Amino acid sequence: MDGRDLVRSVKAVGSVGAAQGMRTVRAAWRRRRADASGLPARGAERARVPGQVREVEPGPGGGVIRFSRSELRILVAVNGAVFWGWDGADPEPSYALAGRCPEPDPRAVLEPDKDGGWRVVAERVTVVVSRHGAVEVSTPGGVPLRRDLPPRWWEAAGGGPARWMQRSEVGADARFFGLGGRASGPRLRDGTYRLWNTDPGAAFAPGDDPLYITMPLQLVVADAGTHLMFYDNSWDGTVTLREGEEGAGSGHDRAGTAELRMDGGPLRCWVMVGTPARVLLTWASLTGAPALPPAWALGHHHARWGFGSEQEVRRIVEGYQERGLPLDAVHLDIDHYDDHQVFTVDTERFPKLPVLAEELRRDGIRLVSIVDPAVKAESGNAVHDSGTAEDAFVRDASGRVVRGVAWPGDAVFPDFTHARVREWWGGLYQERLAQGFSGFWHDMNEPTSFTAFGESTLPRSARHALEGCGGDHREAHNVYALCMARAGYEGLRKLAPQERPFVFSRSGWAGMQRYGGTWSGDVATSWPGLRASLALVLGLGLCGVPYSGPDIGGFDGDPSPELYLRWFQLGAYLPLFRTHASLRASRREPWEFGPQVLEHARLALLERRRLLPYFLTLAHLARRTGAPYVRPLWWSAPEERALRDCEDAFLLGDCLLVAPVLDPGADRRVVRLPRGRWYDTATGRAHEGPAQVLVDAPLARIPVFARAGAVLPVRGEDGELELEVWAPEPGRTGGGLVVPDLGDGWEPEIERYTARRHGRRVVVEREGEDGVSGPPHPVRVRGLHER
Ligand code: GLC
Repeated sequence: MDGRDLVRSVKAVGSVGAAQGMRTVRAAWRRRRADASGLPARGAERARVPGQVREVEPGPGGGVIRFSRSELRILVAVNGAVFWGWDGADPEPSYALAGRCPEPDPRAVLEPDKDGGWRVVAERVTVVVSRHGAVEVSTPGGVPLRRDLPPRWWEAAGGGPARWMQRSEVGADARFFGLGGRASGPRLRDGTYRLWNTDPGAAFAPGDDPLYITMPLQLVVADAGTHLMFYDNSWDGTVTLREGEEGAGSGHDRAGTAELRMDGGPLRCWVMVGTPARVLLTWASLTGAPALPPAWALGHHHARWGFGSEQEVRRIVEGYQERGLPLDAVHLDIDHYDDHQVFTVDTERFPKLPVLAEELRRDGIRLVSIVDPAVKAESGNAVHDSGTAEDAFVRDASGRVVRGVAWPGDAVFPDFTHARVREWWGGLYQERLAQGFSGFWHDMNEPTSFTAFGESTLPRSARHALEGCGGDHREAHNVYALCMARAGYEGLRKLAPQERPFVFSRSGWAGMQRYGGTWSGDVATSWPGLRASLALVLGLGLCGVPYSGPDIGGFDGDPSPELYLRWFQLGAYLPLFRTHASLRASRREPWEFGPQVLEHARLALLERRRLLPYFLTLAHLARRTGAPYVRPLWWSAPEERALRDCEDAFLLGDCLLVAPVLDPGADRRVVRLPRGRWYDTATGRAHEGPAQVLVDAPLARIPVFARAGAVLPVRGEDGELELEVWAPEPGRTGGGLVVPDLGDGWEPEIERYTARRHGRRVVVEREGEDGVSGPPHPVRVRGLHER
C-alpha cells in the first residue's frame, strides 16, 4: 500500500462509513487474490518495431503495407475519416463506432511516395507512410499536422497481450484538448494523463486525474489546421503530452509531442482533419449522433443526496413555486431506495411515489432517478435473483461471481458487455417508469467497488463477454459505463417508444453521446472546483459529448453565498443546469443563501427559461452536426492563437459569448472577444473584436455578449417563440438557425434566417425552398442605436 493507496483507503472507508470498513478490506484482498491467480505473470518481454517495408497490397480506400515485423492497414472512409491499424487490427469490432465501419472511399488509392514510402491522397487529408512505418498526416496542401513515429511493442515471452507505445509529433504551436475532458483543462498542459475511468473517492479538484470519463482522443489545434486523433483501444494506458516551442527566429522549433502507452489491445486509430466544426461532424458520423434530450431536461434540475422523504421533496418544490422560481426536474438519489438497492423504493419514506410524480408532472416538473449498477448480493432480492437466473453477473477466471462492495454492501455487477444482460437490465426500467420517473441518472459505473486499498473497481482478471469476443476487465473497464448507458437507453426506447429517453451517466467512453450526456461528478466546493467544472464541459464537448454540467455549488462542504451564486450563474448557460450536493453538504436551494443571492439566482433561472428555445435549437443542431452547445472561443477561428489559450469564457452556440466570474470578489472582468462586433447584452453596448475588454460583472449577473447579426430564438413574455435579433454591423448581414421543438417523435425542419441593415432598420427574412418570406415569429431587434 503506497501513500496514495492509504489516502484512497481512508477516503473509501470514510465514504461508506465504519460499518463497511471491514467489507472494503476483505474486498481488497479478494481482488488481489483474484488477480494473482487470474492474470498471467508477464515475465520477460521482447521489444519489436515494424522494420522495413516489404510489400504493398492496394485495396478499397487504401490497402495494406507489409513491413518485416508488422503490417499496416489504411482505409479512407467515405465520411472523410482515415483509419489505420497495425498488426492486422481492423476497425471492427469497436465500442466507439455507432454502427458498421463506414464504406471505403473508392477515390483514395495507395501510391508510391519518395524514399520507398507510400501515400494515400484523400479529399481532405494526405497520409504518407515512411519505409520504416512513420505515418504522417497532412493537409491536402501538404502542410504536416501530425507524425506518428514507428510504433513499438513489448511482447511477453509467456504470451498475453503486448504493451505498446506510440509517439507522435505535432506543430510547435499546437494545443491539445480532449482525452474525455480533464479537470485541469480544457487546454491540456504538459503532463501524463491516465486512460482509466476512475472514481477519485472524494470530491475532486483540478489537479485530480484521472476522473470518471477518459477517452484516448486528442483534439489538436494548430496554425496548420485542426485534427482529431482517436486511438480505438479501451485498455488502461497513459498519454504524456508536451506542448512544443517555437524558435522565434533565434533557434529551431521544438515539436509538440504526445506519447501514448497502452497495456494491451489493438493499435488502431481514426484521424479527422478540417475545421473544428467539420472534425466534430465527422466524429459524430463515426461514433453516433448525440441523443436529443427531452425539452424539460434543458430546464432547471434540483437534486440532493438525502431529500429523505416525500414530504421533503414537496417542501422543496413548494419553496421553488412560492418564490416563483422555475423548476423542471427533481432528482432522487440512493436514499429513496430500499436499503440502497437499485430498482426499489423505501416505501416508508416514499409511500406514494407515483402519486407524487403525477402531481409534480402536472406542475411541469419531472422526477429523475439515480440508477447504480451494483446489485446487492443477497438471494431473495428480486434484482439479484433475476440477474442470477439470467447469468448476468461478472465472474472471475475460476468461474465464481465477483463480489465487490458498493452502497448496498456486498454487491455483484452486471456484465453490460453482453447483449443479453443489457436487454435484461433495460427491462428493469419498467419498475422505474411505473414509479413515475421520467429520467435516469447513472452513477458509480466506472464501475466503482469500494476497496480499502488498491483501485476502487473490479479485479482486472474479472471476465467479461465483450460481445462474444471474451476478455477481462482490463479491456472492459473503460467501456462498462458506455454499455450500461446503452442498456438503459435501449430499454427505455422499448418501454416508452413515444418519449425521448433521458439518461445521463457519470462514467463513459467514446460514443457515449449516442445514449445521453453526463455530469461532472463530485466536484469540490471551491473556486478551483468552479473552474474545473467549466473545463470539463468544454473538454467533453470537444470529445463529442455535448450535454453535461456540474453539481452547482460543488458536491461537498458549504459554498459561500458568492461562490454558490457564481456557480449558479455559470450553470444557467450550460446544457445540464443542476444543483446537487452530498448528504453531508449544506443545503443548495437558492433561498438558503440570503435574499440577495435569491434575487440574483431568480434572474439566472428566468434567463435560462427565456433561452430555452435557443437551448433546444442547440440540442437539435448538436444531434445533426455533432457541434457542442458550449464551445471554446476558438471554435470558428482556430488560427487565433490568443483564443486557443483562453479558458475562462465560452461560446454558447453561434450567437452568445458567456464570460462567467470564476474568482472571488470580482465585480469586473476582462473578456477576450473574437473578431467582429459583440454587444454586451446587459447594457447593449457594442465592442469591436478582436479585443480584450474590461466589463462590469456585478453580483447580479455574469457578462454575456451577443454576436452582431445573431438571430436568437427566445421565449417571449406570452410563452411563445420570439426572435431576438442583434443588429448586424453596417454593411454586413447576419443570420441564424432556429429549430422549433415540436415535441417527442417529431423531426422539425431547420428554419434559416437572415438579418441585414436597411437604413435605420433591420430586415429579418426566412429562407425557404421557395424563396424568402417574413418570419413566422415576432421579431425584437436590439443593438440598433449603436453605430
Ligand atoms: C456519488 C455520485 C453522487 C451521488 C452519490 C450518492 O458520489 O457521484 O452524485 O449523490 O454517489 O448516490
